[in-house]
Amino acid sequence: MKTMKAEEIRSVACVGGGTIGFSWAVLFAQHGMRVKIYDVSDAVLSQANAELRMAYDSLVEAGVMSKEDVAAALDRVTTSTDLAAAVQDVDYVQESGPERYGIKREIYRDLDRLARPEAILASSTSAMLMTEIQSATARPERCVVAHPYNPPHIVPCVEVVPGEATSAETVETARDFMASMGRVAVVASKECRGHIVNHMQAVLYREAMWLVGNGVATAAEIDLAFRTGPGLRLALMGPFMVGMLTSPGGLQDTMVDRKLDHSLEDDIPSRVEREAPERRPELAREWAKLCTAQMEAELADTDMEAVKKWRDAKLLQILDVIASD
Ligand SMILES: NC(=O)c1ccc[n+]([C@@H]2O[C@H](COP(=O)([O-])OP(=O)(O)OC[C@H]3O[C@@H](n4cnc5c(N)ncnc54)[C@H](O)[C@@H]3O)[C@@H](O)[C@H]2O)c1
Repeated sequence: MKTMKAEEIRSVACVGGGTIGFSWAVLFAQHGMRVKIYDVSDAVLSQANAELRMAYDSLVEAGVMSKEDVAAALDRVTTSTDLAAAVQDVDYVQESGPERYGIKREIYRDLDRLARPEAILASSTSAMLMTEIQSATARPERCVVAHPYNPPHIVPCVEVVPGEATSAETVETARDFMASMGRVAVVASKECRGHIVNHMQAVLYREAMWLVGNGVATAAEIDLAFRTGPGLRLALMGPFMVGMLTSPGGLQDTMVDRKLDHSLEDDIPSRVEREAPERRPELAREWAKLCTAQMEAELADTDMEAVKKWRDAKLLQILDVIASD
């Protein structure tokens, strides 16, 4: 069976209408899709409807949509507690059910039975492996992770992550579809618990909890430091670009030689340590060199002084936005 192309997708089912599901519905309907939201009870669906309307009000207030656009988008959205009715004739399903393997697999079994065979089944899962979910279906090649950041109708990043059985065509369709919804689709080469960013965020939280637990700072102090320090820069560039701008010797200089990564040498079990304890410093140095080499290739034609100027101008603008009310 031919895999559907992104431009052929006209209708979407949002399966699960909670925090993430209703926000996906806002986005999809805003971009012209017919949207059906499924959830387990009328009470949840009426809450989803109320949230959806509030989100559109905010988009009108911000000048992103007109009232007429919102009326047309709302006309495209329906809700149902009947899964078959919600998914039977849609081109694409965005599943945002509870983050439990057992529940996801059950949902996928039902979706496989009820949705058209050519429909793509995408999951919002924050950390799970698609390989563990897609095996519940007879169409594993059409199952893929499309992981957003909250709220999906505002935050651009969507990580598109294949499971072992996901086809290259499905990845392409998910990536192109997300791009057509105004998102920035970042395609992972292979799956990993937590995908890309949640994998990294887990380390951030682990270290922050270590600092609180060891009395180094309070939770509020850590938030303040993060928000007024690295958080500002991270709004403009990723950690590797920050590293390249601040450390002329490359990432191995920042992370390894200057021992910024204290977990390399003390009592916090790092991932490197768990994976290959005997090669810990050697592996960290090797990976830092690999990252530096990739960034140097990426930045070969970039004027770093111009980037610094751009960064400073943008940081000042962000500070102005934060100071305004
Ligand atoms: N909250 C976030 O910041 C965030 C961000 C990105 C991705 N995600 C992922 O999105 C998914 C949903 O998370 P959430 O925060 O919206 O959770 P949520 O609890 O707000 O929503 C989950 C919804 O699923 C519904 N549900 C329960 N059983 C169901 C079933 N069998 N079939 C369909 N729906 C069912 C619930 O009634 C609820 O409305 C999870 O996989 C989560 O990891 C969450």
